[in-house]
Amino acid sequence: MIRKFFSSTTEIPEASPVPRHIAIIMDGNGRWAKKRHMPRVAGHVQGVERVRDIIKSCADRRVEYLTLFAFSSENWRRPKDEVTKLMELFVMALEREVDKLNRNGIRLRIIGDLSRFDDKLRKLIAEGEKTTAEHTRLTLTVAANYGGRWDIVQATNAWRAANPEATGITEQDLAEHLSMAFAPEPDLFIRTGGEQRISNFLLWQLAYTELYFTETLWPDFDAAALDIAITSYQKRERRFGRTSEQLVKS
Ligand code: IPE
Ligand code: IPE
Ligand code: MG
Repeated sequence: MIRKFFSSTTEIPEASPVPRHIAIIMDGNGRWAKKRHMPRVAGHVQGVERVRDIIKSCADRRVEYLTLFAFSSENWRRPKDEVTKLMELFVMALEREVDKLNRNGIRLRIIGDLSRFDDKLRKLIAEGEKTTAEHTRLTLTVAANYGGRWDIVQATNAWRAANPEATGITEQDLAEHLSMAFAPEPDLFIRTGGEQRISNFLLWQLAYTELYFTETLWPDFDAAALDIAITSYQKRERRFGRTSEQLVKS
């Protein structure tokens, strides 16, 4: 039976050699461009190419969920022209890629506070999600204007609106209202670009996720680099609070 909601603090997921859900902070585009004396946006353009490859690699490896951090709620702090370019790239990627996702059986979801995006972008997002809604091969989730704290707050408020009389929220209640309630928690988190931090990504969902950091800049992160990350994941012992001895026994 497929359970709708999965929580690493109340149950232990079945171990599988290929991570069911991979979440990635695609970092290092700016530095990639700088090394080549190119404008930062050139790094973002190259980064979009990598997104394409990694989607395919994940589908080929039977990963079921791929979640990509494309724009954080703090990225609005960047220079205005970089933010504008990133929005243009997002629009372009949606215009060009949704058909391809559709042909390849990939479901698209966008999470984040979409209210800050313009109408055109919001319409493309809604259309992209609708066109691909029935696909099951891989769910590609793009986090845009997303922040882990925003998510927890919006979930709490949504729950409160639906349950005005309730006395206290439970973990299960909160999890059901988070924007990734449709997916299991990530098994493997990857951050490219060398920084070792979460930067307000999936704060709640990463509770028991295996973390993998690499110096490789996102525009250089290819299928071989993905395989190295998956191999590292396969060597981890996921204890979920238990002892090593308990794992050997079971
Ligand atoms: C990640 O690359 C892409 C976004 C945050 C949109 P960066 O733009 O952060 O690249 P660096 O970290 O400056 O190299
Ligand atoms: C995290 O990268 C956000 C995305 C990749 C979308 P940043 O480059 O914004 O993170 P910090 O500022 O180095 O923590
Ligand atoms: Mg960065």
